[in-house]
Parts: sequence; structure tokens; C-alpha cells
Amino acid sequence: MNKSNKRAIIVGNWKMNNNRAQTESLIKSLRPLVKNANCDVVICPPFTSIETAISKAAGSNMQIGAQNCHFARSGAYTGEISAYMLKEIGVSHVILGHSERRQYFAEKSSTVHLKLLSALDAGLTAIVCVGETLKQHENKTTTEIVSIQTKVALKGLRIEQMKNVIIAYEPVWAIGTGKTATSNQAAQVCGTIRKTVEQIFGSSASQALRILYGGSMNPTNCECLLSKDDIDGGLIGGASLRPADFSSIINFAGKNR
Ligand code: 13P
Repeated sequence: MNKSNKRAIIVGNWKMNNNRAQTESLIKSLRPLVKNANCDVVICPPFTSIETAISKAAGSNMQIGAQNCHFARSGAYTGEISAYMLKEIGVSHVILGHSERRQYFAEKSSTVHLKLLSALDAGLTAIVCVGETLKQHENKTTTEIVSIQTKVALKGLRIEQMKNVIIAYEPVWAIGTGKTATSNQAAQVCGTIRKTVEQIFGSSASQALRILYGGSMNPTNCECLLSKDDIDGGLIGGASLRPADFSSIINFAGKNR
């Protein structure tokens, strides 16, 4: 499959930012700025702002995602929220295995795998994050780390489930640091992810898979990154909190097909 046959996707990960009033105002500012976007646009607010985001984005081309979910449908898991609960309120996507969850909440690839099964079963599209730490980057083990994370997360999935999976390559050392992987580095690792998926699911599933880059993407560096063959979109943190920056990334991604 040629890259131009795939719709680009730009996802905003707001992390733990924006209460309901701020969510309302940010979505209101974004609506006119992204209304002609020729790519998928997903915004992932914190749980408490999701319903506000869904109601304020209604009738627009923005979909609303979550930043995490639990792997069980329901049960004695204090403080957790299931994929089915997210689906029930109109969430379309969920980010899984973000490096901040791996780092601060000891989330492992095997847990990401369980969450992925649950998210897909609930009818969500999952954005599975993989990426190496600075130490792993310096030790030149990126390829190995990223392909193991990918394999463990996708273990045992049926090929048709891959339609609802997106993989995001986020080098941990590039998140919120202002450091970006060069477009060639990022494209090379995204190519490794695609090859790993090809080994498991074959060429047509791997070609159809959308792979995102995340880590200090902004309006200045997005052009180089998004023009690479193996990069089908972006997972944006800081810049997604600024309507002008986020919309210029979105509008560039839509044009670049
Ligand atoms: P920044 O764009 O702020 O580096 O964050 C990237 C990220 O973690 C998105 O999930």
C-alpha cells in the first residue's frame, strides 16, 4: 500500500492538562482552525474533561480519545477505568503504553498487551506507544527494544484486529525535552516497527498500519518528519495545547498526502 492511500492522523495527548473550562475553550478555538483538515484528528484529554471535549467537538472532524484504560471489563480495581466505560461515553481511541505510564506507573509491555486486547474488544482504536530510553538510545539497542515492545504488545492478535491498531514511536529522550529524533532516525525506527509487524501479520497488514512519530513535534519540524514514507502522522504533547501550533501540524499532515 502506498502512503498516499492511507489517511494521516494527528493525535493530541494533553497529558494531565486542561480542566473542563480550559477544554471547552481549547476545543472552541481549534474547531475553525482544523475544519478543513484532510487527516484524522484525535484529542486525548484527561478523563475528567473527556465528556466536555466530546460535547464541544460534536459535529466537528475531531474525535476524542483517552490516555489510558484498564485491562478488565469491570471489577475491584480502585481508581481505574475500563475500555468499555470509555466506549460507552463516546471515546473512539485510547493511548496505551505511553512512556510516562511505563516510567511512573511501572507499566510493562505485557500489561500493554492485556490493555490492547481489552480496548479492541470494547471497539476502541488503540494507539500503542513504543520507544527507547536515553540509555538504550546511547547503547544503540533501539531496534531491539522497539521490536520487542511491538511483538509483546501485539502477541496473539488476529490479523483483522490490526485495522484498529496504530503504533506510535516515541523516543523517551525526545518527549517534552525539545530534542527531536532526526527525521531519518525516526523514519528508520518506524521502518523497523513496520518490518516487525510484517514478520507477524504479513505485508498487506504492515503496509496498511499507521505509524506515528511523537517527541517534541512542532510546526517547524513536522514537515521533515511527516514527509517520511514510514511516518503516517504524529502524537503531539506540548504543541497540542496551543491551537495555532497544533492546527498547523494538522493542516500540514493533511496536505502532505
Ligand atoms: P511532546 O510533544 O511534549 O514532546 O510530548 C510527546 C508525547 O509524549 C506525546 O504523547
